[in-house]
Amino acid sequence: MPAERFIAALNDQIGREFAASQQYLAAAVYYEDETLPRLAQLFYDQAVEERGHALMMAKYLLDLGIRPRVPGVGEPRGDFADFVEPIAIALEQEQKVTDQISELAAIAREERDFVSDQFVQWFLKEQVEEIDLMSTLLTTAERARERPLDIEEFIVREGIGGDQESDSSAPVPAGG
Ligand SMILES: [Fe+2]
Ligand SMILES: [Fe+2]
Repeated sequence: MPAERFIAALNDQIGREFAASQQYLAAAVYYEDETLPRLAQLFYDQAVEERGHALMMAKYLLDLGIRPRVPGVGEPRGDFADFVEPIAIALEQEQKVTDQISELAAIAREERDFVSDQFVQWFLKEQVEEIDLMSTLLTTAERARERPLDIEEFIVREGIGGDQESDSSAPVPAGG
């Protein structure tokens, strides 16, 4: 059984994953409204992924007979200075999440809970990919600040965010 402080920290992280999902969704509808469909789709997809992370964490607790808390989340940022800002916010958010998940791993190790430690490793690997994605996007967006259509073309040309291949090592989410 995981230590109480690990369970509490994981519950907090479930809330942050849902909050991240809402922030991605707020950016997605902004992009769709601005007629930037590729950025919109990428952010819609990220919103679904973050919700998935929350449900994977919920499932981990459920499998241990612990009922996860379903959190309320604050309203995300929905107004942006330009098309670059949501990407900058997303990158900052992903960097924060990486620290938070590292903290989860640290708690698991301190408690000598190597099962939970192993569980969070998948999320750390996922963070490396998401930071890489948002860094690439931010660099490209900053370079094309006056020409948002360039980044739309870049996303298509490089196949960014497209075909999320199924990852058989991914934890199972609650709800299947
Ligand atoms: Fe996440
Ligand atoms: Fe993420």
